[in-house]
Amino acid sequence: MTTTPDEAVERAADELTRTVLASFDGAPERLRTLARGLVSHLHAFVRENDVTDEEWRYAIGFLTRTGHITSDVRQEFILLSDVLGVSSLVDVLGNARAAGATPSAVLGPFYVEGPPELPQGADISGGLDGEPVLADVTITDTAGVPVADAVVDVWQANKDGYYDVQLPDQEGPVLRGRLRTDAGGRLRFWTILPAPYPIPDDGPVGELLAAAGRHSMRAPHLHFMIAAPGRRTLVTQLFVEGGDYLDSDAVFGVKEPIIVPFSEQDDPAPDGRPGPWRRVEFTFRLA
Ligand code: BEZ
Ligand code: FE
Repeated sequence: MTTTPDEAVERAADELTRTVLASFDGAPERLRTLARGLVSHLHAFVRENDVTDEEWRYAIGFLTRTGHITSDVRQEFILLSDVLGVSSLVDVLGNARAAGATPSAVLGPFYVEGPPELPQGADISGGLDGEPVLADVTITDTAGVPVADAVVDVWQANKDGYYDVQLPDQEGPVLRGRLRTDAGGRLRFWTILPAPYPIPDDGPVGELLAAAGRHSMRAPHLHFMIAAPGRRTLVTQLFVEGGDYLDSDAVFGVKEPIIVPFSEQDDPAPDGRPGPWRRVEFTFRLA
């Protein structure tokens, strides 16, 4: 029986894939599993799409540029993982291991370690212009038992969609802080309504979005990182109900249970401040 050129290529490709897979036989178990999975899927990707030499060199160049633009304050690889939905996929699978807990959501690149410690009732807006929001938050375990003394970091964008670290004239942290829950697992702070904003789109990830005709906008949200002894740390977000981009968030971070009303209030504000204000209330459940 004669072999056609196509069959010969298929055979050579199969043989190559088998050889590469076997090269990981001596690796520790988890590395072997992950490396073999990665090689199988990558090889299948190249074969199914008949990737050309020129396309592969472009892909390597793209990753090289992604590395070059990455720094302590610019995490382009995280952004790439975010826009490919991988960060959210890892997150969704992790949530399945924390039954009954509030869903987590991506950390994003704007978290700053060691935010300012603030008392109950603090205003994190630092006087920045925006629609005042009173946040009343409760932290419980999955059985609904309040968690006292939980450490809660919050951070968010301003009314124009910028984080403090992006504001050229901003001195020191603003729209971020660390608060602790009281004996009833509660905490309260004032802030302003966050706006939608574009993820950093002036690098390779922005090029990818533009080439694909995708926008770079995130739905408006507040970030939370909640830690308490003996509990799984929860990194999540609260999305403003009715906000833009909830159904097309650039990093696929929106989950239905964490879309919440930031309701306009008719009563006078509890601290006597004038003008319209909103209230958001939410109970986070820690695993
Ligand atoms: C953020 O919500 O801060 C964020 C998340 C992923 C990518 C860019 C920004
Ligand atoms: Fe954000």
